[in-house]
Amino acid sequence: MSDQGTRQGGGVRAILTRRSLLKGTAMAAGALAAGPLLQACGPAAGPQASSGPLKLGVLVPLSGVYSGLGQDMVQGMQLYLDSINNEIAGRKVQIIQEDSEAKTDVAPTKARKLLDQDKVDLVTGIVHSGVALALRDLFDSTKNILIISNAGADDVTGAKKSKYIFRTSFSNSQTTYPAGPWVFNNIGKKAALSAPDYAAGKEMMNGFKRTFTEAGGEVVFEVYPPLGNNDYQPFLTQLQQANPEVIFSFYSGSDAVRFVQQYEQFGLKGKIPLAGAGFMTESDVLPQQGAAAEGIRTSLHYTYLLDTPENKKFVEAYQAKFNELPSVFALQAYDATQLIDAAIKTTQGNTSDKDKLVEALVNASITSPRGPFKIDPDTHNPIMHIYMREVQKVGDDMGNVVIADLGEAKGPS
Ligand code: PHB
Repeated sequence: MSDQGTRQGGGVRAILTRRSLLKGTAMAAGALAAGPLLQACGPAAGPQASSGPLKLGVLVPLSGVYSGLGQDMVQGMQLYLDSINNEIAGRKVQIIQEDSEAKTDVAPTKARKLLDQDKVDLVTGIVHSGVALALRDLFDSTKNILIISNAGADDVTGAKKSKYIFRTSFSNSQTTYPAGPWVFNNIGKKAALSAPDYAAGKEMMNGFKRTFTEAGGEVVFEVYPPLGNNDYQPFLTQLQQANPEVIFSFYSGSDAVRFVQQYEQFGLKGKIPLAGAGFMTESDVLPQQGAAAEGIRTSLHYTYLLDTPENKKFVEAYQAKFNELPSVFALQAYDATQLIDAAIKTTQGNTSDKDKLVEALVNASITSPRGPFKIDPDTHNPIMHIYMREVQKVGDDMGNVVIADLGEAKGPS
């Protein structure tokens, strides 16, 4: 059995799923060439309507550094759609999925295909901040609705917010600014920062840096390796030489697996505490990181260990269907699908009047497994709690145990 098969909750027999196999390949090879997990079905492209199939365009990476995140998002959507018999306001849901490859030069072409050729009713997905920024004007100017279920680019719900763009995930700095004072008070006063060299990495580090320095902390060093990196040794050498009391990082997908494993191999684990944005130790990567991740403290709006009745139900249903524990990425896509369901029920299946649909999305209320959750009517970004979590052994697995509730956090406006 591969280490993928250990991504299980207590009592559920570990078996390899198709996804585990795909993901194992992706992590080993650094790339994944998988076909759509959900095939387009039913009749070919037709006009947008209030009856007939409801076409959801799903744009996620199924190859490259973030392929595992894309797969989790598809699974989160599948779980919710199953629970409503794949039907919203009397319309059968038809998923049309495209691989964004998490590339800013690929995703816009795929988005245009979904809008112009497939004539989808709305689009959801998007993992990479650069892709979200590259799509912003397309959706804004054509008045098409985009529900982002991961990419955190601050501007998309901040300086460049759009009436037609919503997020069920987070804005990048929102996940880390609440951690600054906590890290200063509980871990160390001198920090070194490290994250991939693009918008998400920079914004998560800036969010942390602002509140950490306001609390009295000092940032002594920063380093930004390329996204999709294999060898962190040169960067770990520099981080160690800066002699910080804490290293604060963001990595995700295959980058997170490698960074956390190499942190231990390089001998830093146990010497300099590692903290960061919670994506670095989420359920998509924890089984492969294993004991190397133990003790890492991160901030995030979710962990499968959150103790709410809705989360227990969500985790149980997810495990029963996919034989693995849900990650924040699955949760965000599950909530995006819930939100779409609630809004389109309000418009009684009508998706052609985009302004009415926007209003319904703003007013929709859903019960998220993450706990308190509302869409900020001003920015369309979630208002929610951020938790400090620590990787600990939980039964036979590793899990992110909540060690502090950092309170309600808003995105930039
Ligand atoms: C992003 O690019 O916005 C991004 C990617 C992966 C994450 C979080 C944010 O885990």
